Amino acid sequence: MPVIYQPIKTPANRSIVPLIEESCEIINCFAGEWTAIGRNNKLIESSIGDYSYTMEDVTINYSEIGKFCSIASHVCINPVQHPMDRVSQHHITYRRLQYQLKENDDEAFFDWRRSHKVKIGHDVWIGHGAIIMKGVEIGNGAVVGAGAVVTKNVEPYSIVAGVPAKPIRKRFSDEIAAKLEKVSWWDWPREKLENHLDDLNDVELFIKKHG
Ligand SMILES: CC(C)(COP(=O)(O)OP(=O)(O)OC[C@H]1O[C@@H](n2cnc3c(N)ncnc32)[C@H](O)[C@@H]1OP(=O)(O)O)[C@@H](O)C(=O)NCCC(=O)NCCS
Repeated sequence: MPVIYQPIKTPANRSIVPLIEESCEIINCFAGEWTAIGRNNKLIESSIGDYSYTMEDVTINYSEIGKFCSIASHVCINPVQHPMDRVSQHHITYRRLQYQLKENDDEAFFDWRRSHKVKIGHDVWIGHGAIIMKGVEIGNGAVVGAGAVVTKNVEPYSIVAGVPAKPIRKRFSDEIAAKLEKVSWWDWPREKLENHLDDLNDVELFIKKHG
């Protein structure tokens, strides 16, 4: 008999309460309203703003992610560094408890990781399998192409791709981008968002009306 695999069903509807798949491992994180964290995600000491979502197999460490971000599957945000300047870069020098080598871990090393946060703005789209390296800041409205390795800051509303990631083009003119940032629609209360949802479909009309 052939085995028939049933796909695991993700609830179709989001809710004001964050939707977090059971298979996730989450340590000391914050998720805003209407957020969704996909299957097999691993998140450590990170925050994810209202309406942002991740697809499956996403890793996020020590990062701040804004509102309305779209994070594709297999993305890694802030893959943590090992201590390359030590004699050994293996876990034994800082995860000392696990190996019963000392009574405590090397907290100073973990603090160093914490001090190299990734910061991602609002309405950022991160493509499949992209990697965002430590300390990088990504501006509002930016796009990171599939498979990119982002090692430098990304300007608002610019599209970057490749390894290492380089700008391809801007989504809009600098003038329009600046106006969108000024409006900061991502901070609108829910009621305003409901009333003006269709305005988000046409950037020229949006600027005329709200800019
Ligand atoms: C980055 C991206 C948004 C650009 O889209 P676009 O503006 O329509 O770009 P184009 O297809 O016109 O390509 C423009 C140039 O960038 C290159 N390029 C596009 N995407 C690239 C990528 N991911 N990596 C490297 N180069 C890329 C193209 O080869 C082309 O180069 P050329 O000018 O030398 O010919 C898109 O290609 C992408 O990667 N989207 C992510 C899709 C995804 O991961 N979806 C997951 C589900 S959410």
